[in-house]
Amino acid sequence: MKIRNINIQIEEYDSAESLKQPEAQLLEHAQEAIAGSYAPYSEFRVGAAVLLENGEVIKGSNQENAAYPSGLCAERVAIFHAKSKYPGLKVKSIAITAASDNFITKSPVTPCGACRQVMAETENRQNEKIRIIMKGQEGIVQAVNGIENLLPFMFNEEQLKKSKKK
Ligand code: THU
Repeated sequence: MKIRNINIQIEEYDSAESLKQPEAQLLEHAQEAIAGSYAPYSEFRVGAAVLLENGEVIKGSNQENAAYPSGLCAERVAIFHAKSKYPGLKVKSIAITAASDNFITKSPVTPCGACRQVMAETENRQNEKIRIIMKGQEGIVQAVNGIENLLPFMFNEEQLKKSKKK
């Protein structure tokens, strides 16, 4: 038996002002995206902004449903919109933030497991890592270069190939 450790790296910034300008701006777009949120059940409004390689920013927000699992997170709304509009363009980065109707979000909003898996697929599809920038309404900003830092030991396409019968 041996134990393998996986190292992940998360950057932390005191505030959005400490980020490079384009990243601070992408967070602002994510903040603006909150306006499109439909969250009558959780009252937790999430905004995401995807930066594409042509410089275009695509926004997304969470869209809930009375049948809860039918709703979709802001990150997947933004990524799926971006990739269906521009299938050939790479996603360079995604900024995520959220505001609750009932409290101030003071720590960065980190994507759920399903959104991480979609980010992993997007990286695999475009053969390039995505920078993920996360913030609450207040407090520090966290950023990672590549989904492996949020989804270590992930399921990927390679495993699907190996499992095929001859
Ligand atoms: N949600 C997102 O949109 N993104 C996240 O990263 C976390 C959760 C949404 C799903 C649901 O509409 C609400 O936030 C509460 O979970």
